[in-house]
Amino acid sequence: MDELSIERFRSCVNSVLVNDAERALGYDDSEGYAPFRRWVASYMNARGVECSEENILIVAGYQQGLALVARALLDPADTALVEDPTFPDTPNALRLYGATVQGIPLGETGPDVGVLTEVVSSRRPKLICVTPLWQNPTGIVMSRDVRKALLALAEQYGFIIVEDGFTDEFCYSGRLIPPLSAEDRCCRVVYVGSMSKLLFGGLRLGWVVASKALVRVLTLIKQASMLCHSPLLQAACHQFCELGYLENHIVRVRKILSVRRDAMVQAMEEYFPDGVTWRAAEGGLSTWVTLPRGVDSDQVAAECARGGAVVAPGRPFSLYGRTTNNLRMSYSLCREDMIRQGVKIVGDVLKRMT
Ligand SMILES: Cc1ncc(COP(=O)(O)O)c(C=O)c1O
Repeated sequence: MDELSIERFRSCVNSVLVNDAERALGYDDSEGYAPFRRWVASYMNARGVECSEENILIVAGYQQGLALVARALLDPADTALVEDPTFPDTPNALRLYGATVQGIPLGETGPDVGVLTEVVSSRRPKLICVTPLWQNPTGIVMSRDVRKALLALAEQYGFIIVEDGFTDEFCYSGRLIPPLSAEDRCCRVVYVGSMSKLLFGGLRLGWVVASKALVRVLTLIKQASMLCHSPLLQAACHQFCELGYLENHIVRVRKILSVRRDAMVQAMEEYFPDGVTWRAAEGGLSTWVTLPRGVDSDQVAAECARGGAVVAPGRPFSLYGRTTNNLRMSYSLCREDMIRQGVKIVGDVLKRMT
């Protein structure tokens, strides 16, 4: 974790307790701490998304945001779509409400538009969950054409797009790509942002950007299980953002991530055997590795773990077992020397098993 940001966050918590303890330690609005909601609205405005405080609901992160949207929109007979492969907790949240989850295969530029068109016209889904930037696990970035097609289909068939923006800011070039939500002219996109990867996962803070009507419904659902998020943490986080510390943090983390990505790629080039390929994205937290067909990444991951390297096998990311020969290798939490060591362990295992 970033020491400077920890220190700065500590000073923000102290300052809130010194200056505003009564409010910070009492109950607060279910929609979220008002100054923080206002900050989120202006932050999203700066990213091209038209919204005001009333379009923002503070949640505990992406997972709660998605669960609330799913609870609000899905009935047991409904179909919900996800990218395939995807972050496994996304289909899990959708299934909780009885929906049938269908995966749309991912191509190099996002969900396959041909398959998507056919599925939305035959199944009439209520919603689709997408991560347009640095998709987890593949690192794929949705192209302009796919964005356009997805928005047009959502408008034509009336489904909601849940946009997961969990690492949008970790674009190594520093040239931020606007969220899909910024191109939405028909209120079809619900954006979910999270402080989990952006700052600290333990804050359990994120936000939903949706129509005012949907925010009201989501607030009622949230109220049924929690009255509010910690005003202390929201106020401290708000101060952290207002003082420019978040922006500063993002710039530092971007640099660290890009150096680590380079270290991983360099080590892969050195240690990986022929026949193994990978996608190293220009943003995000991990690389997506493809092993020769027939090589089982569960076995590879188990063997790597025995050698001391942690990699995620591909199987849990696909609804249909499409990724049994893939590995997701994360570099976000390791220093360059550890990355090199880890990739060497994986390379040795791959040389034995492929
Ligand atoms: C694709 C994706 N979205 C969102 C998140 C963050 O979830 P949360 O905000 O609930 O911590 C993660 C965390 O691993 C993730 O992989």
